[in-house]
Amino acid sequence: MMKDKLQNIKDEALKAIEQADVPEKLNDVRVRFLGKKGELTAVLKGMKDVAPEDRPKVGQMVNETRAAIESILEESKVKMERAIREEKMKQEVIDVTLPAKKNTVGHRHPNTIALEEVERIFTGMGYEVVEGPEIEYDEYNFRKLNIPDGHPAKDEQDTFYINKDIVLRTQTSPVQARIMEQGKLPICILSPGRVFRSDEVDATHSPSFHQIEGLVIDKNISFSDLKGTLEVFAKELFGEETKTKFRPHHFPFTEPSAEMDVTCFKCGGKGCRFCKGSGWIEILGCGMVHPHVLEMCGIDPEEYTGFAFGVGLERIALLKYEIDDMRLLYENDIRFLKQF
Ligand code: DAH
Repeated sequence: MMKDKLQNIKDEALKAIEQADVPEKLNDVRVRFLGKKGELTAVLKGMKDVAPEDRPKVGQMVNETRAAIESILEESKVKMERAIREEKMKQEVIDVTLPAKKNTVGHRHPNTIALEEVERIFTGMGYEVVEGPEIEYDEYNFRKLNIPDGHPAKDEQDTFYINKDIVLRTQTSPVQARIMEQGKLPICILSPGRVFRSDEVDATHSPSFHQIEGLVIDKNISFSDLKGTLEVFAKELFGEETKTKFRPHHFPFTEPSAEMDVTCFKCGGKGCRFCKGSGWIEILGCGMVHPHVLEMCGIDPEEYTGFAFGVGLERIALLKYEIDDMRLLYENDIRFLKQF
């Protein structure tokens, strides 16, 4: 009787083990037959009903059954784990003959390349790169640069007004006033950034472009410092054989003011299509900081002097890479951008 019962339990357990397809199910079988409330344990608990003389024998039979189920469970578990591992290995096989996935790596925009080149040249001469706000007070963009209300220079730069006191800066020059006001002297800074003008888009204009402002203030700074500095800059940027020429000009915040031309790097100054036959290309505005501007920014013009310059970044990029339409710089056409 007892023997049959145990045989039944064993058969059932074996069947359940066979049907188990994942390790969790094997564990369920263990609980169901061998666990505290398991079927085999129930038989042990029923020993009190067995005649005392039969108990050792029944006990042994129960133990044998338990051992048998345990060993088969263990065997199945090992087998199942091996099968899972093999399946995983099969799926994780690496086919080294497959072509590699191509990584498309982006690269720097021609504007960025040109800017980093300009920054490299000036930081090499001891300049510090600083930034100013793109949304600027009319006060800094105009008034502190000697451009009072009603000044014609305000008209020339068709400005985006946010309200009557706040504008999208039309030039990077307001950073000059901001730095001078801080009162830390001497000053030797370069300030690149985005500027805005209400211009129609064409091959040489855009409502948003970039400038690089430079400012040096110290005792005994003269126009020859300005010329020497910008000459080094031009030679570094366009080549050692480049010559520079300063033409008198007018900017409200500098006196005297000039525009700097460089010899055309395409024809070397002989005159070509690139420089429209003149042999020269204009690249920046500059001058000695106006004493009134120094005063408005809290610097004594009797003690300190300085020079400033403003370069159009796009202009440099267009010249350096011989690009004939500024719009290409903003269109994000990969075929164009890939070339730099
Ligand atoms: N801010 C001027 C412009 O946008 C460029 C310029 C000229 C900047 C002379 C300067 C300077 O610092 O000294 O046209």
